[in-house]
Amino acid sequence: MRIGVLTSGGDCPGLNAVIRSVVHRAVVDHGDEVIGFRDGWKGLLECDYLKLDLDAVGGILARGGTILGSSRVQPSHLRDGVERARGHVEELGLDAIIPIGGEGTLKAARLMADSGLPVVGVPKTIDNDIAVTDVTFGFDTAVTVATEALDRLKTTAESHQRVLVVEVMGRHTGWIALHSGMAAGAHAVVVPERPFDIDELTRVVGRRFEAGKRFAIVVAAEGAKPRAGSMAFDEGGKDIYGHERFAGVARQLSIELEERLGKEARPVILGHVQRGGTPTAYDRVLATRFGWHAVEAVHRGEFGHMTALRGTDIVMVPLAEAVETLKTVPADRYDEAECVL
Ligand code: F6P
Repeated sequence: MRIGVLTSGGDCPGLNAVIRSVVHRAVVDHGDEVIGFRDGWKGLLECDYLKLDLDAVGGILARGGTILGSSRVQPSHLRDGVERARGHVEELGLDAIIPIGGEGTLKAARLMADSGLPVVGVPKTIDNDIAVTDVTFGFDTAVTVATEALDRLKTTAESHQRVLVVEVMGRHTGWIALHSGMAAGAHAVVVPERPFDIDELTRVVGRRFEAGKRFAIVVAAEGAKPRAGSMAFDEGGKDIYGHERFAGVARQLSIELEERLGKEARPVILGHVQRGGTPTAYDRVLATRFGWHAVEAVHRGEFGHMTALRGTDIVMVPLAEAVETLKTVPADRYDEAECVL
């Protein structure tokens, strides 16, 4: 068989582990040929690819990023995108395409599969918000990085008797905020799923100082917003490239808390450090299993599906289901965490 692989959307620790696993299973075990498209769907649309053999994937298991490069280009962005992609699949004699990506990529994968192309998807996102899989690889690494940062920030916050408002990734969901906040013992966590009340947040942080504590750590998912009317809040908007840009919840919260509490407050935006660097062992294993199962699905002809983790098993789920809804943090998880407002 001839299989094409691509990585699309924001990068994520573990992408290289999937690529390596696909090549090992396909080339070594099945005698397939594998090619990798450069920079996501763009590579397929422009027929820009490289051959992936054992040498090409040597030493990449622990490497962050993606050796194939990524972009946010999708076939639907071009009027003739799907047709052009189909033409290249035929021209290259591909029996299957394995796109590895998040919500946008999986939507594109579904579109391609619906048009009759042999597609098997692999989900990835540090945000962990893809509904049909229990976990996505990259999430564990992001939480580990954010937790280490929070541990470090506690010591500097304490030295300077400050409130630190730490912004973590999570445009639509608060999984990274919840897990890193719990792991580091943050004093308050705000998430997009539950608009926060600034008075309540001020009370929670203020009570710590009244109790004689010298600092406070607030974790804010980047997409967290105040309850309507709770505070003046700039939600940002689209920039000149059409990308959504937030004005920054950490900046706005630190100004508000400093004014209300009379304590020094600073914003810390962790940003892309959460996505870079080597994946944790958990993410390497999950990514490797996804790659292995994607190749098996290709050999079974199970197209229009993607790999997913259910409990401890890897299963295949229809791409149509995968892109229906986002996996948000359920309300009972806030109670367990205590610190979520
Ligand atoms: O991969 C998802 C994500 O990590 C979001 O949490 C974040 O908002 C976004 O990517 C930022 O990506 P970029 O700055 O690369 O567009």
